[in-house]
Amino acid sequence: MVSNFTTQPNSAGKRTIITSALPYANGPIHVGHLVEYIQTDIYVRFLRLRGEDVIYCCADDTHGTPIELKAKELGVSPEQLIADVFKEHTRDFRAFLVRFDNYYTTNSAENKHFSDLIFGRLKQKGHIYTKEVDITYCEHDKRALPDRYVKGKCPKCRAGDQYGDVCEKCNAAYRTTDLIEPYCALCKNPPIRKKSNHYFFRLGEFSDRLRQWLTENGQLQPEVRNFALNWIKNGLEDWNISRDGPYFGFNIPGEEDKYYYVWLDAPIGYIASFANKVGDNGNAEEQWNDSTIIHFIGKDIMYFHLLFWPAMLMGADFKLPRTVNVHGFLTVNGEKMSKSRGTFITAEDFSRKYPPEYLRYYYASMLSRKLADIDLNFAVFREKINNELVANIGNFCHRVISFTSRNFGGRIGEIEHHAALEKAILDKAGQIAHHYETLNFNEAVREILAISSFGNQYFQAEQPWKLIREDKERVQRICGFALNIVRNLSIVIAPMVPDISTELQRQLNVTDFRWSDISFTLKNHAIGREKLLVQKMEGQEEKKFPLNLKVAKITSIDDHPDADKLYVLQLDLGQEKRQLVAGLRGHYTKEQLLGKNIVVISNLKYAKLRGVESQGMLLAGDDGEQVGVLTARDAAPGTAVRAGTLENGTAQLTYDDFMKLTITVQDGKPVVDGLSLRAGDEDVIADKKLKDGARVR
Ligand code: 2FM
Ligand code: ZN
Repeated sequence: MVSNFTTQPNSAGKRTIITSALPYANGPIHVGHLVEYIQTDIYVRFLRLRGEDVIYCCADDTHGTPIELKAKELGVSPEQLIADVFKEHTRDFRAFLVRFDNYYTTNSAENKHFSDLIFGRLKQKGHIYTKEVDITYCEHDKRALPDRYVKGKCPKCRAGDQYGDVCEKCNAAYRTTDLIEPYCALCKNPPIRKKSNHYFFRLGEFSDRLRQWLTENGQLQPEVRNFALNWIKNGLEDWNISRDGPYFGFNIPGEEDKYYYVWLDAPIGYIASFANKVGDNGNAEEQWNDSTIIHFIGKDIMYFHLLFWPAMLMGADFKLPRTVNVHGFLTVNGEKMSKSRGTFITAEDFSRKYPPEYLRYYYASMLSRKLADIDLNFAVFREKINNELVANIGNFCHRVISFTSRNFGGRIGEIEHHAALEKAILDKAGQIAHHYETLNFNEAVREILAISSFGNQYFQAEQPWKLIREDKERVQRICGFALNIVRNLSIVIAPMVPDISTELQRQLNVTDFRWSDISFTLKNHAIGREKLLVQKMEGQEEKKFPLNLKVAKITSIDDHPDADKLYVLQLDLGQEKRQLVAGLRGHYTKEQLLGKNIVVISNLKYAKLRGVESQGMLLAGDDGEQVGVLTARDAAPGTAVRAGTLENGTAQLTYDDFMKLTITVQDGKPVVDGLSLRAGDEDVIADKKLKDGARVR
């Protein structure tokens, strides 16, 4: 269905600045993040293919308490942490062919400049005021505690261990100060209440202007507009835009130890990244205001981008975005990504296992303008790659190119025009352009597949391999026509799978990187060498880790009656209890072991050791001097321990099977095939300081 809606930036030849949300600099890029960067990148590449002047800007979001504390935990400065993460993020984006025109950091001189400028203008115009508020403060850690760093009992359902903003048990939202028996999440001491002066942005004053902007904007997704209008209807509260030190961020001018709240300077990071590209702050402001601005975000940060951010821009006389495109969340195999289920898949994990372009193709085939969540289901993923990208698009292109090479040395002359098919394909190309423009990539993929199906049917119907015996010249003309279809395909797939497109163009010996090159004009031409374009996916995602490892708590210990090196341990594995015989006497006293969370192989054939049954085996590292058991201190008994994201095996193993695996300890952690062992989101460690290379057995 073709609607009138278009996100096409403009026809006046103006520049378009496009952004994706800035990822926090305290963790890796994962497949959930990639939905947005791939979506934006496809859009940017499409506009560029159409000849638009586009600048794609992004940056790491580097400020705030979590980053400061993470650096502390790692024993590095925040600057060091964000520099390290920057390298990882940019490496991951490169791997997934997300091509920014500028990727920057919010901890930059440009961002400080624009944050002060915008804050200053807002303050000068009376949009900012100060007032004294109650804050939660930890006297032990000497810091104000943000909501997430205060825990306690939910004031509504009394569930324990809940954060200071919402209860995960009953979903009640409340103020941190309402928590029952609150304690500091860092040191567990009860916090105190304190007064502190804070800066507030009068968001409510912008209600009318925001409502008007939202209502008149023809570009926003209807659901998004409705959300934002509803928030306005329910009344907008003024926004606290300052934080007390210690805080990693920009100092507020004229203040000793107060900083901009990270959400103030983060979106300003869009402008700062652009300014860094321009190379001149003054010029950048002018150019920003003279451009069309389009943001891409996830649905969790709509409030910031549809209310706070436009209000700040209005108040400081900056150009408003033309639109904010919002996408849904990613689920993996139907569920929220989770470390304990092994579905927290980082970009790096994914790119080690599969070609990154396969994910681009998959996401494109799932993405639409809707806010609905999309699911990364590995069975569907493989089917789509094998049946669509490989068997349909890849196969058609390869078939035509190799047939032409084999029979005509890759040369074509005149082409056999097939008017109806030409028209159908050019129509499809028009629809594909519209679908790219309107972010209905799933529809674009459907039409692209229709083009390669047309091509396949055409080639099949003409039966060139038979006809060649009777009319070789005509077959060459047929190949010419089919190669024109391949060439058009190489253009329409370019935004989605750019490297495959480039490879296809190499094989065709063309460099048609404009949408307007779509046509049936290629003739009297020699193509290049053929090569398999895309590889079928084998069932490698089902690769399993042969061991089935679980966390077990030692609940009691006895000496083995007949062996002076062995203990008999009783274990709690959550759902079951087991007895294990282990050669730890001489390495551990009973007291040292009791209550420990160890790691056991639960799919090992039971064995009798000197007459006592051992229902599995525990893992310990041995460096020749010391033996140290592997532990996962905080994991619940029964938690699966996985190697990377591999699923645990279920088949029963013998001791010999186990001995074929090499698990060693490096840096205090067990490693197998380069993968570390994790129990949920916790790294498994050896509980003694063993030498690197210690063998686990
Ligand atoms: O939610 C997040 O991951 C934020 N780091 C997004 C910031 S987007 C922009 F406002 F900077
Ligand atoms: Zn504390």
